[in-house]
Amino acid sequence: MDVTESIRKRRFHRSFTDEPVDEDALAQLVWAASRAPMGGNELVRRIVLVTDPAVVRTVRQVTPSFLANAPAVLVICTDLERAEASMGIQGRDVLSLVDAGAAAENVALAAVALGLATCFVRSSNDVALQEVLELPGTVRPDILIAVGHPAPTPSPAMKNPPAVVYRDRFGSVWNPRSGASTAQKTAPIRGGSNGPTPFETALYLVASARDCLDEPLIYGPFRMIEGVSRMLEGQTGDSFLKEMKAAIDREKYNVMADRASFARWLDDLLRAFAAEAGRRNVPARASTAVAVDGETG
Ligand SMILES: Cc1cc2nc3c(=O)[nH]c(=O)nc-3n(C[C@H](O)[C@H](O)[C@H](O)COP(=O)(O)O)c2cc1C
Repeated sequence: MDVTESIRKRRFHRSFTDEPVDEDALAQLVWAASRAPMGGNELVRRIVLVTDPAVVRTVRQVTPSFLANAPAVLVICTDLERAEASMGIQGRDVLSLVDAGAAAENVALAAVALGLATCFVRSSNDVALQEVLELPGTVRPDILIAVGHPAPTPSPAMKNPPAVVYRDRFGSVWNPRSGASTAQKTAPIRGGSNGPTPFETALYLVASARDCLDEPLIYGPFRMIEGVSRMLEGQTGDSFLKEMKAAIDREKYNVMADRASFARWLDDLLRAFAAEAGRRNVPARASTAVAVDGETG
């Protein structure tokens, strides 16, 4: 089943059979959740798979909005301490919830492909869930996913409300059949053949400075390095800078995913710049020789 078919067929169920979900299928759902991206690529997601009937029952009892009689529950959680330490307030309050939603949707779509049924449940009773699942106080249960086999007569599907979609600016109604905007020639994202203009670089740096206050910490150094790369665009007359720009562009996305390798790579880059600074600060031999020659001659 391709992803479009999964998206089309997915609907949430609240009536399930008693048949347990087999371990292989549960493992595939856990895998689907783990494949979802995480902001800053920080491992802040924690997954609790609940299949013990007594625990499932208690989870349902402390979660009044849990209407489904499902035999299994996947609880997608966030380690708040880790999220805040590595990604700041934005990581704790925003990115982790987006991460949890991405993981949950992966599970819902994978379940369709496996012939299973799901329903998301968001409980406000975090404290009760922490008690029942023995979650540390610093682990927040973000979303529960009821999982099971759909009942032969499932509860009626809710009517999907139409999406509210605008084009280019809020309030400008999107007409998918007009095709007007796509027919326009796309303007270059930035700069011309000489690289970004000073205005574009200044805007990039101002916007980055603002982002750095709330973003995952690792994004700050990345933005500065990206700024260096942009600044050096079109500056081909200096062979050292040209080489540094090429080195930055080759590796910047690969190394930023891992803090330790990012630090090692930045150290290497800094070492190269420091050595170059040393070379550039020594008066050139040729001109010294000329001066000496001049004096003696
Ligand atoms: C973030 C989120 C929280 C939800 N919480 C609950 C819930 O607590 N209980 C419930 O029965 N359904 C819950 N739902 C399911 C929605 O009510 C469901 O998506 C809606 O009924 C539309 O059904 P459909 O997705 O099958 O089209 C939740 C869905 C989302 C996205």
